Amino acid sequence: MKLHLLTVLLATLGFASAARKCVIPKILQGTWFSWEFGEPTATTIDARSYERQGPTQGRVWTECVDSEKVGSNHTFILKGADCYSCVKAFPRTLNVFEKFETPCITLDRNEQPTIERICRTLRKDQQLITLFNKNFHPMSCRSSLEGVWHFAYQNRFRFTGECDSPDARIQSCQTPGSQFLIQNQKFNITYRQCQGMDGTFNGVVEYSCLGDWFIGKNHYFAVVNTKESREDEKYRCFLKNRDDDLYIGGSITAECNTLKTVEKSPERYRVTPVKSEVVEPGCRFPQNFTGDWINTANIDAEVQVNETHIIETYYPDRARFRRTIYVCREQRDSRIMTARLTVDGCQKDYVCFDFIPRHHNVIRYRKGMAVIKDDFSTVCSWVQFPNREEWRYDLFLNAKPTPVRCPVAGKFNFTQKGESPFKTRILGGVTLSPRPDIRCKQNISDFSVCDTDQKEMAIDANYCLSVDHLGRPVDIYSDPDYRMKCIGYWQENLKSYLVTYDDLDPLSKYRCWVYQRADLNRVLMSQATGAFCDVRQDVTSWNYTEGAVVALDMVEYERERDQCPMHFDDGENPWQEGENYITVFPWLIYRSGVPSSLGGTMNAFVVSLAALLLKLLF
Ligand SMILES: *[C@@H]1O[C@H](CO)[C@@H](O)[C@H](O)[C@H]1NC(C)=O
Ligand SMILES: *[C@@H]1O[C@H](CO)[C@@H](O)[C@H](O)[C@H]1NC(C)=O
Ligand SMILES: *[C@@H]1O[C@H](CO)[C@@H](O)[C@H](O)[C@H]1NC(C)=O
Ligand SMILES: *[C@@H]1O[C@H](CO)[C@@H](O)[C@H](O)[C@H]1NC(C)=O
Ligand SMILES: *[C@@H]1O[C@H](CO)[C@@H](O)[C@H](O)[C@H]1NC(C)=O
Ligand SMILES: *[C@@H]1O[C@H](CO)[C@@H](O)[C@H](O)[C@H]1NC(C)=O
Ligand SMILES: *[C@@H]1O[C@H](CO)[C@@H](O)[C@H](O)[C@H]1NC(C)=O
Repeated sequence: MKLHLLTVLLATLGFASAARKCVIPKILQGTWFSWEFGEPTATTIDARSYERQGPTQGRVWTECVDSEKVGSNHTFILKGADCYSCVKAFPRTLNVFEKFETPCITLDRNEQPTIERICRTLRKDQQLITLFNKNFHPMSCRSSLEGVWHFAYQNRFRFTGECDSPDARIQSCQTPGSQFLIQNQKFNITYRQCQGMDGTFNGVVEYSCLGDWFIGKNHYFAVVNTKESREDEKYRCFLKNRDDDLYIGGSITAECNTLKTVEKSPERYRVTPVKSEVVEPGCRFPQNFTGDWINTANIDAEVQVNETHIIETYYPDRARFRRTIYVCREQRDSRIMTARLTVDGCQKDYVCFDFIPRHHNVIRYRKGMAVIKDDFSTVCSWVQFPNREEWRYDLFLNAKPTPVRCPVAGKFNFTQKGESPFKTRILGGVTLSPRPDIRCKQNISDFSVCDTDQKEMAIDANYCLSVDHLGRPVDIYSDPDYRMKCIGYWQENLKSYLVTYDDLDPLSKYRCWVYQRADLNRVLMSQATGAFCDVRQDVTSWNYTEGAVVALDMVEYERERDQCPMHFDDGENPWQEGENYITVFPWLIYRSGVPSSLGGTMNAFVVSLAALLLKLLF
């Protein structure tokens, strides 16, 4: 009984697999238009058969007898009246597939129509044939073409030379927020006649997009002119190259195989992006925003701000750039509504910025989500700002920062912990004078902010602490390993942040720090991996999980001759003016006659002079 059942089962299975030997996927089924054997051809494909029809070919009906699928590539064996042919099909989009096809081969009596046998005659250099779906579903043009361009064009088959009329336009603009609307599935080419060039014409051609695909660096997209009734004039193929934004190639037939390179395309458009819309500014950014900035959220971008515009330029690779322009439209309290001109001059949308007044070299801001409506209360409603549980303001940092007084100053001895700690190195090549052989009683890691204005942090990972018999430090020859200029600090979320600038830092010229005073003479600091401090970064953070590279625990150790008063500012009021502040002198009697700006060395000199005088007198 069991055996019997099994046989029945096997038999049905065998039958099923024989019947399903050929699988033509849904994406290839339908009626298609193509240009084959030099004439317009219609192809009808269903689950079992493949039928081709053309004026001189007549009607050729074939049955699919075998198939194979590798990735998204399909291979079919089609059985005609007496012969077999092999078709390799490459679906490109819902509306387009391309194929290689062999002629129909008659087999010997004892030969089997296997895929290997029939497809053997496929040649490597065969032309791909493009088939366009007659019942197409237009697709969004966004991935194919987006922007507004002026163009000049050549058509080797219709006229010689290049037709360059100032009004010629390619216009492919998407309506933001209306992904599924019909406008997003079309673009326009406005042709203008050029004098003395027959074959050029005045007219607008509107194309619907049929999708796009890549072959290597070649970016193809297929289109259909819905207003054209002649089928062979309806479908077109275009080619862009990822490395070349200047040219677009176009076919003059319903074929993509004529487009091998952009330069050798039958029709070639030389395009220049156009800013199509001019938005009148309606307000002004604060005057001290003007200048060049670095956006820490996108460190590769350049940000230029003038009174009315913010221009952010981003270089995805060497040859190309993307530019976004924000125009000031309306301001209320700290919020400024801007019109955002998106890629290549298409429609604008609106984005709200929430700015904190500039302090030092820092602009802090939040950016809302983009909205199409030109209405302050919608665009700048607080709901538009991403409402994460923990957030921080984003930063613009001055591209040419002027140093400010460091919020942490003095002479500190530190211990460090981190993934990339401060190390001994020779700054800027070889030290000028050779370091005499000094015996050090004690080496420490030194953090000093001791220059006259206290604007520069000097870090020496291994500093010789010994002093000579006069109490002067012996290690006067060694340069610090790191020098960083303080360029801004503030307090946010009860944490104090500092940004430093170091021209020689290979990873990031700008570094963010979190700092905190732990005791009367103890300061904790943590340095971030880059210009931006992670929300989770704390003064004790030292590894990447909190976005930090090293944490310092610093204890003040000013010696008598160092002339380096300690200073600490938690950044609560970063707008406070604090430029002329050094009025600290060790003893009151020396105050008279010493101008404050002369600073440390002068001070030390006066002090020793006074000491000498005192010695002589008593
Ligand atoms: C599909 O065919 C193309 C062109 O012949 C080939 O480059 C590609 O590797 C094939 N894909 C797979 C998954 O075999
Ligand atoms: C194309 O041009 C026509 C006529 O100038 C215009 O009505 C239509 O909105 C344009 N379409 C697009 C997508 O630009
Ligand atoms: C700001 O820059 C834009 C774009 O470069 C320019 O059109 C505008 O005139 C500038 N505004 C001022 C006040 O300089
Ligand atoms: C920039 O200007 C604002 C007022 O518009 C002022 O509050 C702020 O202190 C200024 N910042 C600097 C660094 O000058
Ligand atoms: C201090 O460091 C120097 C090298 O810079 C080394 O020669 C010396 O032995 C060290 N002294 C002590 C006490 O560790
Ligand atoms: C990173 O530092 C945090 C806090 O200091 C610690 O909890 C965590 O284990 C560290 N992670 C790694 C991978 O060392
Ligand atoms: C350096 O700091 C440590 C604590 O971190 C302290 O014990 C030591 O005395 C300090 N050295 C000097 C010279 O101040």
